[in-house]
Amino acid sequence: MAIRLGDTAPNFTADSTEGSIDFHNWIDGSWVVLFSHPKDYTPVCTTELGRLANMKPEFDKRGVKVVGLSVDDVESHKGWVKDINETQNCTVGYPIIADPEKKVAELYDMIHPKALNNLTVRSIFIIGPDKTVKLMLTYPASTGRNFDELLRVIDSLQLTANHQVATPADWKWGEDCVVVPAIKTEDIPEKFPKGHKVIKPYLRTTPQPNI
Ligand code: BEZ
Repeated sequence: MAIRLGDTAPNFTADSTEGSIDFHNWIDGSWVVLFSHPKDYTPVCTTELGRLANMKPEFDKRGVKVVGLSVDDVESHKGWVKDINETQNCTVGYPIIADPEKKVAELYDMIHPKALNNLTVRSIFIIGPDKTVKLMLTYPASTGRNFDELLRVIDSLQLTANHQVATPADWKWGEDCVVVPAIKTEDIPEKFPKGHKVIKPYLRTTPQPNI
C-alpha cells in the first residue's frame, strides 16, 4: 500500500555500508532523511551523494540523520564511495543501504517501472522523531536533487513542529512565517511576542520565532 504523509515509516532491517540497520532503532528520536538513488557508479548519483556528504554538517546541526539506498550491494556501495570521495572532494559520512532484493524499495514504493525499469527512482522521505512521514519527494533519474531545498523544507517542518508556524511560498530562513490556523488571533500576542500582522482573519504572519 502506498505510504502517505502522517503514516508511520515502515520498519525494516537491512545491510548498509555502516553495518546492519534496524530502521526504527536507527531513527532513535532524530529527524531522518531516507533517500534512494537509481544506481551506483552513475554520474548524477555521484554528484548527489557527494553534495550531501559535503552538506552533512548542516543536517547534523538540525539533528537530522541521513541514509541513502539503492538496489546495489554493500561491496558495490563501498567501492563507489571511494570514487565519490575522490571526485566530489568529500568524505561520505552517512550509511548507504544495500537493497539487492528490493525489499526496502518495494516497502517504500521507490521503484516506478514506467519511469525506470527495476531501479529505484530518486525518492526522498523526511521522517520525524515520532517515526511518521513528514514529506515525500520523487525525482526522475535524469534530474539531480537540490539539497539546499531539502534543508529549507527541514527548517519549515521543524518550525511547524516546534513553534506552530507554517512557511509561505518561497520562504527562506529569516523571513516572516504564517501563524497556523489552529491558533486564535487573540492568542497570538502571548505566543508570538516578536509581533504579528493580521492581513486577513485567516492570514496572520509573525517574524520567524526561533532566531
Ligand atoms: C545517473 O545517476 O546519472 C543516472 C542513473 C540512472 C539512470 C540515469 C542516470
